[in-house]
Amino acid sequence: MRCAGLIAIACLASLADPAGAAGRDPLAIVEARCQNCHGMTGQSSSPNYPKLASQNAQYLQRQLFNFKSGKRQNAEMQAQVADLTGAEIEALADYFSGKAVIADVAFDPALADIGRLLYENGNTANGVTACSACHGPRAHGALFLPRLAGQHASYIERQIKAFIDHTREAPDIVMHTVVAGLTEAEIIAVAQYLSGLD
Ligand code: HEC
Ligand code: HEC
Repeated sequence: MRCAGLIAIACLASLADPAGAAGRDPLAIVEARCQNCHGMTGQSSSPNYPKLASQNAQYLQRQLFNFKSGKRQNAEMQAQVADLTGAEIEALADYFSGKAVIADVAFDPALADIGRLLYENGNTANGVTACSACHGPRAHGALFLPRLAGQHASYIERQIKAFIDHTREAPDIVMHTVVAGLTEAEIIAVAQYLSGLD
């Protein structure tokens, strides 16, 4: 590309920001990439991939930046975000946050009820704080606190275990300490409860 005379200013600006200040169309990125795993509206059908629909935009943004910086390790996701600009990440977070999520149907309502008790009260016997204190009474979260309502149960279980063994790092140590004492049965029960919540 040749930059000369008055045109040089506009030309240099376009070289510095080839996609334009607003970046690529988020919908085009969703279609080309995200939908393969998370679905077009973030209602991923496979429990291998978290639902993004209705998730809080600030939380989504932070996680995308964490994958980009390597603070949160996941080979599949790191490949997806490597070339995304800050503006594109913001637009993708807003896009998925604005979609409606459909909760799962609990396969075991009795177990989900045990999960609800733990969610709302914690368990003083093993030092587990009430999840509702941070994630809210209906698990909708706020800002950087993730929504858990309607998420795939097995994804929730995997993330809790990743916090316990530190394969997932959080920006602060909050999640590591609050879940450290959970038993396997409690993890399954609370995940059951949350996946059925809307
Ligand atoms: C090849 C499959 C794949 C594609 C394509 C993909 N993701 Fe993911 N995504 C994953 C997996 C797997 C996880 C869970 C990672 C983990 O367990 O830590 C994830 C997690 C996430 C999370 C964290 C959600 C949470 O609740 O913490 C966000 C946000 C996300 N993806 C956004 C995107 C966006 C935006 C795109 C498109 C640019 C995208 N993903 C494309 C596989 C994919
Ligand atoms: C003191 C506040 C606090 C409490 C109490 C708490 N959490 Fe969290 N939780 C967080 C924060 C903050 C994050 C986001 C961490 C990050 O940014 O990676 C999080 C993340 C999570 C995630 C990952 C969500 C996703 O989409 O990947 C799950 C699952 C989770 N919490 C479950 C629980 C459960 C179950 C309990 C109760 C046993 C609980 N949390 C109690 C603050 C809390």
